[in-house]
Amino acid sequence: MRFPRAALRRFASALFVTAAAIAAPSAYAEAVNVYSARQEALIKPLLDKFTDETGIEVNLVTGKDDALLTRLQTEGRNSPADVLLTVDAGRLYRAKEAGVLQPVQSDFLEETIPANLRNGEGYWYGLSVRARVIAYATDRVDPEELSTYEALTDEKWRGRICVRSSGNIYNQSLVASMLSTEGEAATEEWIEGLVANFARPPQGGDRDQIKALATGQCDVALVNSYYYGAMLQSDDAEERAAADKVAVFFPNQDGRGTHINVSGAGVTKSAKNIEAATALIEFLAGPEAQQWYAETNNEYPANSEVEASALLESWGDFKADSVDVTELGRLNAQAVMAMDRANWK
Ligand SMILES: [Fe+2]
Repeated sequence: MRFPRAALRRFASALFVTAAAIAAPSAYAEAVNVYSARQEALIKPLLDKFTDETGIEVNLVTGKDDALLTRLQTEGRNSPADVLLTVDAGRLYRAKEAGVLQPVQSDFLEETIPANLRNGEGYWYGLSVRARVIAYATDRVDPEELSTYEALTDEKWRGRICVRSSGNIYNQSLVASMLSTEGEAATEEWIEGLVANFARPPQGGDRDQIKALATGQCDVALVNSYYYGAMLQSDDAEERAAADKVAVFFPNQDGRGTHINVSGAGVTKSAKNIEAATALIEFLAGPEAQQWYAETNNEYPANSEVEASALLESWGDFKADSVDVTELGRLNAQAVMAMDRANWK
């Protein structure tokens, strides 16, 4: 899989969504209740558009990922939720394992979302793709020096790497991807070598790692690409200034590809309006929503027929790891243990 990708059948899928929308008002109940770990600003405009096109009202509850999952579990079959929107395949996997999702079959979603970015039985579907890249300080690092995640264990990076804590699921999923392809021994050795090269104890979020590159606390960092995009376009002059001193590098291009992950959605087990809930997920996977979303949050569209934003295009084409993202969830516990043993705080 390569990102960004060319739009191939935009017209065909636009027709499909329109047909689904026309059929909607008579076929569905009046409202869909969404539990979203995505911020309101990043999802509400799309939900409003869905309501405009279908007449189906959407009630939005936003919250932290883990809190929303706990809430779904506590509410059980009485939960008012119809759709769960969350980030990271590790969490989507967890939600399925917790029994709060139900499978839905959709020809449109199966055709639109690549098989490695969704659950094979239809419990959840990836809706946007994020790459975990190597960010580097452009005045101190020549991109020629960079190659793979594995090569960050080289002695030349001693005391030069920043990354957030092992408690963060993005790092857990990166380690899980490595477990999936390289095995446990090689992965644990990698973590040890990476930890040995840390510039400081893990702290902060991905934006803080980019800021640390700008202030000279470290020279390379592992971050999700959309944070870099957001900082480049930030209203905050300090964030823009930090991002201007940084560039991103897509590692492992000669091998398995750069680690990617997804945000996604599933229909809840408690859903009363399964058809409307499925229609909403189809809408979010459709060309219009995918394009808006990709532009707004600088993520890559999961829909292979939709183009990435101009900013992402400017970073160039890259090869993405084709591992089934379900593996990231399946191997999460093993990843957490390996990080713990290798002392990634
Ligand atoms: Fe994030």
